[in-house]
Amino acid sequence: MSLPPQTRRIGVAYYPEHWPESRWADDARVLREAGISIVRMMEFAWDKLEPRQGEYRFDWMDRALETFQAAGIQAVLCTPTPTPPPWLSHQHPEILRVNDRTAVRDVPGSRRHVNAFAPAYLEACDRIVTAIADRWGQHANVIGWQIDNEFGCHNSTRDVSDLSRAAFQAWLRGKYGTLDALNAAWGTQFWSATYTAWEQIPVPAPTTADHNPGLLLDFRRFSSGAWVRFQKRQIDILRPRIGPDRFITHNFMIHFFEIDYFELARDLDVVGFDNYPYGMTGPLETALNLDLMRGLKGKPFWVLEQQPGPVNWAPFNPPVAPGQVRAWTHQAFVHGADAVLYFRERAVNIGQEQYHSGLMKHDGALDRGYHEAKQVSDDLAHLPALTRPKAPVAIVFDYEDLWTLELDPHNAEFSYYRLVTDMYRQLWEAHIPVDFVPRDADLAGYKAVFVPSPALIDEAHTATWRAYVEGGGKLVVTFRAFFKNPGSTWTDQPMPAGGLGELLGVRVDEFFCIPPVKWVGLRRPDEIAPDWDDDRGSHVSDLAGKTPGYGFGEGFGMPAKLHYHTWAETLTPSAAEPLMRYVDGFWKDAVAATVNKVGAGEAYYLGCWCDKIIPRSLWQALGLESLAIKVEDGPRGAAIEIVRLQDADGHLHEVRINHAKRTVTLPVLETGK
Ligand code: GAL
Repeated sequence: MSLPPQTRRIGVAYYPEHWPESRWADDARVLREAGISIVRMMEFAWDKLEPRQGEYRFDWMDRALETFQAAGIQAVLCTPTPTPPPWLSHQHPEILRVNDRTAVRDVPGSRRHVNAFAPAYLEACDRIVTAIADRWGQHANVIGWQIDNEFGCHNSTRDVSDLSRAAFQAWLRGKYGTLDALNAAWGTQFWSATYTAWEQIPVPAPTTADHNPGLLLDFRRFSSGAWVRFQKRQIDILRPRIGPDRFITHNFMIHFFEIDYFELARDLDVVGFDNYPYGMTGPLETALNLDLMRGLKGKPFWVLEQQPGPVNWAPFNPPVAPGQVRAWTHQAFVHGADAVLYFRERAVNIGQEQYHSGLMKHDGALDRGYHEAKQVSDDLAHLPALTRPKAPVAIVFDYEDLWTLELDPHNAEFSYYRLVTDMYRQLWEAHIPVDFVPRDADLAGYKAVFVPSPALIDEAHTATWRAYVEGGGKLVVTFRAFFKNPGSTWTDQPMPAGGLGELLGVRVDEFFCIPPVKWVGLRRPDEIAPDWDDDRGSHVSDLAGKTPGYGFGEGFGMPAKLHYHTWAETLTPSAAEPLMRYVDGFWKDAVAATVNKVGAGEAYYLGCWCDKIIPRSLWQALGLESLAIKVEDGPRGAAIEIVRLQDADGHLHEVRINHAKRTVTLPVLETGK
């Protein structure tokens, strides 16, 4: 996944409908002075474009486009479909979403309060998208189009209306063909739920006890796919009208998993990303999400919304330190963004987001974000065009595995995303670049590949992973692997089932949910342990120096004692060698991790979730130490992010971003160290 050299630009979301027309030219000039060369417009402007059904008002947007063109700023236009005007929802209340958590129908007046199934909504979307594409599809100053805005925002992906139910039943019919096949895939004989007509199948609205896991998983797939299809419908209208040279994008969200983003990305030219690092665990999680966005298509992406200062939507909206906006912007660029557009031009005086900052303040004065954006464009003027080379390490990311484990976690603290974050954290702190890849990616060229808890069995993926290992790759698979059939029924084979179990050379004997009360350091000294408590292990020994060929040097033959939490499995190696053993609990001495040599490579299985998910022995066996960048004399921890990028001549440039709130001085390293 070597990326083309980046052409880095900055831009802003602009809302002509929020300001008197007399301001536009001044705003355009001020924005241009900061180096802004792109505006994104129109995503919530349906009522202004079509105040009554079929009555279009486009002249004001013509003038807005002219204003920015005159100022030397290009435009990305959006389809305005997340906010149908009141005339539409009043006439057709069936377009409103029925919330899957409450089974209550939304009222209008907000956004994303729609479902993707109502013919009246779909047809109204077709008409407005056609009309605006006919009007501006060939406009010389329009370089690209954004479809809608943040599908699924406010957890709006799933709808349990009657329309959704009918569409779900039709989708299931297409998928399974016969009710016998569906009943078998879901195991509906449990709790007497065998369906004898498609119309009997419910959508998972709240009910007394749990829904069938197969129904839940298929409803996730269906609801995710509904927005992929909704998006495609607009792409099919836009493409012939805008031609092949303008791009089509959509703005994806941070820390959002309701929609399979690999699927949503497939029909787009460019992935767009809304980067609101607020509320994340700091630069680490931002980096992870940026890498995930690059991974969705394996190419550069755009940040379509960049937090420009404090937001308005959190319970607390803390100040953003000086320099932070500049650091976020550069962080996005080094992770593969081609453009970063701030949200928004100016803090707005009307509506639901009045506390949100912009590049300008409510009174039009320049805010700190503006000055930092300007500084970014000065920085860019001095930097060469750089490419992000293919990373040495990949992490497989799979939305269906995430859904499967989220729907029935067995341990309330189990989170696929947290597991991925734990893997990413260790690599990021060592400044080792990571690519996120889908399950079916060709893995050739990666030094190590992590597959976090691949819950769903799919032998096609086993074949991909086997080919990688046989060719010399190092594959690391974690617990909860290959135990669910596609309909979320449990395999009747030992876990990991089928070919993956063979590749790893291991079988799971027992699995344990480890409740959080036993976390080391969390028990008060005066707290009396219940008598069953001692039976619950929480430590594992890294067989450092004990297994020939894996000399890990934790001390001469002294195994390191590591803490684990959340999940543990005892293992019986069939072909593999043990790598770690449990040291407490009634499963003391059982094998906890293994390695299997296959062809020229190695397949590792981790049976428990260690505090450091990559134990020292594994870190060394994977050769990660040689990939790490060590900053001697630098500040501890990873407040400093280091990324190496390539220029057109193949020279490496090291970019260092200081995420700490204080100035630090670092020694210059020789390239390659
Ligand atoms: C985004 C959204 C924008 C705006 C912004 C506020 O999620 O796309 O329209 O609401 O959040 O931070």
